Amino acid sequence: MTPLLTRLALSGAAGRMGRMIAASAKNAGVAVVCGIDRAGDDLGFPVVATPADALVHAPDVIIDFSSPAGAIASAEACARSAAAGKPVALVVGTTGLGPGERARVAEHARAIPLLIAPNTSIGVNVLYRLLAEATRLLGPAFDVAIVEGHHKHKKDRPSGTALAMVAAIEAAGGNKPDVAAFRGGEVVGEHTAYFLAESERIEITHRASSRSVFADGAVRAARWLAGKPAGLYEMKDVLGIA
Ligand SMILES: NC(=O)c1ccc[n+]([C@@H]2O[C@H](COP(=O)([O-])OP(=O)(O)OC[C@H]3O[C@@H](n4cnc5c(N)ncnc54)[C@H](OP(=O)(O)O)[C@@H]3O)[C@@H](O)[C@H]2O)c1
Repeated sequence: MTPLLTRLALSGAAGRMGRMIAASAKNAGVAVVCGIDRAGDDLGFPVVATPADALVHAPDVIIDFSSPAGAIASAEACARSAAAGKPVALVVGTTGLGPGERARVAEHARAIPLLIAPNTSIGVNVLYRLLAEATRLLGPAFDVAIVEGHHKHKKDRPSGTALAMVAAIEAAGGNKPDVAAFRGGEVVGEHTAYFLAESERIEITHRASSRSVFADGAVRAARWLAGKPAGLYEMKDVLGIA
């Protein structure tokens, strides 16, 4: 692990994921120098209103699990800091960005080390690889469908993970899968890909039972990203998945 990450800022700090990432950082011995959120007096570190305000705390990395607008603001602040001679790396775990919003984040990869990951769990990033392999091995005789489920508070639909599963299948030469989504209760996150032929089917499922898998992955990504050259990175780079 790189020793470069000592100072972490957390955008969306008061949210479900933000609180989990703060706990994960603590377990990993990484200091959260500030949070960025509209609330969060109880978090145990200072909380500021915008990523630009966070720069006075001199973070090495911002982890953003907030909203599309929050992610864009984080990227702009990191790039402004780079222009002033102090690049700040950025891990974006926020999902639900439209193509234009994603482009407004990604353009800053020219100036900063930037990692965009709609799912930071190890299991889901291995799942993408398994889907590509299954698509290539099964060929066009199999139709593909994806079903994803999440807690009732989730704002985007389908999930960023389901969209990344679609992209993995299409990149491996598969047909565009049907995607269905359900929302309810406190489901942390589950995704199944069905490969369907006339008389047989394969189902590949990932179920997260705790948000800690995403939080641990986000902190691992931040530690890996700190001090890297400017550029656009993915979770598979962190995990060494070809
Ligand atoms: N990459 C992954 O592995 C992964 C895993 C789980 C979730 N996610 C994604 O992470 C994001 C957060 O999820 P969550 O469940 O933690 O949501 P959440 O509980 O709603 O937390 C988001 C927090 O960010 C704050 N926020 C949003 N926009 C802001 C802005 N522009 N400025 C300041 N604060 C802002 C919210 O404040 P308000 O409540 O006042 O708006 C809230 O406290 C979602 O996009 C979700 O899909 C990604």
